[in-house]
Amino acid sequence: MNTGLDHRHLLGLSDYSAREINLILETARRFRDILNRPIKKVPTLRGITVVNLFFESSTRTRISFELAEKRLSADTVNFSASGSSVSKGESLKDTAQNIEAMKIDMVVVRHESPGAPHFLTQCVDAVVINAGDGAHEHPTQALLDMLTISDRFDSLSGLNVSIVGDILHSRVARSNIHGLLTMGANVTICGPQSLLPVHLEKMPRAGSLRITNRLEEALEGCDVAMALRIQLERQGRSLFPSMREYHEQFGIQMHHLDRYKDLIVMHPGPVNRGVELASEVVDHERAVILNQVTNGVAVRMSVLYLLSGQSSPE
Ligand code: CP
Repeated sequence: MNTGLDHRHLLGLSDYSAREINLILETARRFRDILNRPIKKVPTLRGITVVNLFFESSTRTRISFELAEKRLSADTVNFSASGSSVSKGESLKDTAQNIEAMKIDMVVVRHESPGAPHFLTQCVDAVVINAGDGAHEHPTQALLDMLTISDRFDSLSGLNVSIVGDILHSRVARSNIHGLLTMGANVTICGPQSLLPVHLEKMPRAGSLRITNRLEEALEGCDVAMALRIQLERQGRSLFPSMREYHEQFGIQMHHLDRYKDLIVMHPGPVNRGVELASEVVDHERAVILNQVTNGVAVRMSVLYLLSGQSSPE
């Protein structure tokens, strides 16, 4: 019986099984215990070199991968497209092959083009981890979201999770839909008609998928509401009348928390306060946004460790 991951890379959650997701979450919980110790470092990835290739801006993912690598004692190198030879016209393939020629083992990549991490696997021998590719997938975000949900509920299976906002342009939504359905959650996606996907792939998974453009319908009976940022940078034109009207119709506000008493609120960040979430909701005790960020380090340690092929977490 295979007790590790069935994959060599983490490109997305679309083909990760429930067993693999459970393994990543369980390993993340073990690493989280290490992060709560006075000395938050283990020698697990000593001798392994990881390059963080960020072609797009990031606060949470980038810092969290870097911290995870340092906590595991890996050697890390950070690359930003700005200030690199990409600005002189060097391609992704040439950039990656030149970096690999310096003997690296793992690459964490964020890129504005969907499929860039998949392409990298054809250019380099290193293990590739997707840190967000365009509007395609952001698998470690969905994994840290599932870890955060599992901290509050006994099981992901049968849970009602509503994802609200700009689903069309969201890699976070896509990875969460794959991951949550695989784990048996019932997912509702909600947003203005113009921000919902026209075609949803047929996903033969344990959970069910429902679509609505009425927020009240999405929140009724819901355990977890995950709000998403309106991604103006990925919209060629305005797809809804105004931010104020968006907030009125799709923003989660205090009256929603008062009405739906058991609901917890999540957001992958960065948050536009007063748009997808009222500012008081962001700071409310039932918002677990900073727990998500904390869990990000443990989840990324887990993914790095499991894909590194090392035999023991400590
Ligand atoms: N959630 C997320 O991906 O945030 P960053 O863009 O700051 O990494």
